[in-house]
Amino acid sequence: MKINIINGPNLNLLGKREPQIYGQETFVDFFERLYKLYPQLDLNYFQSNSEGVIIDKLHDFGFSADGIILNAGAYSHTSIAIADAIKAIPSPVVEVHISNVFAREDYRHHSMLSAHCAGVIVGCGLEGYRLAIELFLMRQGS
Ligand code: DQA
Repeated sequence: MKINIINGPNLNLLGKREPQIYGQETFVDFFERLYKLYPQLDLNYFQSNSEGVIIDKLHDFGFSADGIILNAGAYSHTSIAIADAIKAIPSPVVEVHISNVFAREDYRHHSMLSAHCAGVIVGCGLEGYRLAIELFLMRQGS
């Protein structure tokens, strides 16, 4: 089962960036743990700060992945182009937000992406990515 994680802008700074909101762990360290937890999966991770590159990756992965886990960061709240890319691909996308966006500024309360996703996981910290994997496994029946 092939699962691709795509992280958007500023998520390369996890561990350093506002640790009171996003935690102390780097995504590289978290991904290593995740990778070991699911040796049966073809699990990949990609990060970009650029909207167009995220769209390119959705196109690249979106016709072969069994699931895509997408945290588009602030683009989630603004990007019609990323929403269109999610609509354009057959692979199911689960939207993840590390923080509870609903407990934060009003402009984080709406996502342009959610309506086009197979599910949304919000406010569970980095565990949200693992929960998204569990959702894909459950849907596949394993
Ligand atoms: C985020 C929430 C967004 O509002 C913010 O712009 C991010 C991270 C999250 O994972 O909680 O960059 O997507």
